[in-house]
Amino acid sequence: MSEELFIPSNVGKSEKYTSLLPQLEALISGEPDLIANLANISAALKETFGWWWVGFYWVKNNELVLGPFQGPIACTRMKSGKGVCGTSWKDEKSIFVPDVEKFPGHISCSSSSVSEIVVPVFDVDRKVIGVLDVDSERFDVLDENDVYFLEKVSEIITKSLS
Ligand code: SME
Repeated sequence: MSEELFIPSNVGKSEKYTSLLPQLEALISGEPDLIANLANISAALKETFGWWWVGFYWVKNNELVLGPFQGPIACTRMKSGKGVCGTSWKDEKSIFVPDVEKFPGHISCSSSSVSEIVVPVFDVDRKVIGVLDVDSERFDVLDENDVYFLEKVSEIITKSLS
């Protein structure tokens, strides 16, 4: 079976997400394997938006451990409260960092990444089970609109767990 994304090219960011979200839902519906689904979601986001790095860290033995991603190699493990990812996990909320230099404790996996969004992923009981991390090598790419839609992506993952 062939799998292909259809994302309109000459439209704004919101329209791209609006087109992408139902396709993500269809892509992972009926597939119980979480790693397969996170891998496809990372690939679909990278293909749609071309970010520097996009992927997941998953909670394992009280640490965040690198999961499926697209982009250059990255840090493998992070503790709760450390870096943007560990802070998003600890505080159970999304974090938009327009300039990583201005986030105390930011963990630099790549010197090319200058701007970042981290969104928690919850299980059906609202416990954080991982985070979705997006990194850009540009200052003018990520914004609050991405936070809004990446939270929708996170909700699609939660829904797939039930
Ligand atoms: N910058 C992140 C670490 C993960 S990488 O960017 C892929 C942080 O501070 O949590």
